[in-house]
Amino acid sequence: MITVRKALMGAAIAALTVPAISADDHGGASAAAEAAKQRHYLMEIVGTAFGGLGKIIKGEVQGDENIPNYTRIMLKAASLAPVHFAVDTRGTGVKTETKDAVWENWDDFAARAGKFGEDLTALDAAAKSGDKAAVAAAFRATARNCKGCHDEYKVPDEH
Ligand code: HEC
Repeated sequence: MITVRKALMGAAIAALTVPAISADDHGGASAAAEAAKQRHYLMEIVGTAFGGLGKIIKGEVQGDENIPNYTRIMLKAASLAPVHFAVDTRGTGVKTETKDAVWENWDDFAARAGKFGEDLTALDAAAKSGDKAAVAAAFRATARNCKGCHDEYKVPDEH
């Protein structure tokens, strides 16, 4: 238990301390393309799990026993996000929905990713406690991270 919590804290802290790295130093164009793909898939995983969890919390679908699985998926995906977002793909010509602002304001982005990791850690702990009201409150707190970060750092959807 203690080990898991420590690992999770470690993930949040890693988000704060991982420096941005140039795609050139990291394997060039193919590394840039791969990082762009991976960070998109990671966010899709977060979005899918968050949506599924939201439906259970609202009572639209059954499955309280799946709540900790959803929170764990998000936590794991978020722990990888700093790795892929750290690859600076500016000027590589890679198609991406991540704005250049991420690397222009890396410290702010990393702090937001760190806060997101902390909120997901709290959400996961609430899920494990089995207290659904606590899960709902932690879910709402976590949701604030999504829009805040997207407004600054995600290219708006075309549709
Ligand atoms: C620290 C910043 C940050 C946080 C926090 C964050 N996102 Fe994202 N998200 C991004 C960025 C940047 C992208 C664009 C990724 C890319 O290049 O494809 C993105 C893309 C997405 C996508 C891809 C599809 C689309 O809409 O274009 C989904 C889904 C998504 N995020 C869901 C979420 C949800 C749900 C949360 C909260 C539970 C969340 N995100 C929290 C930064 C963040």
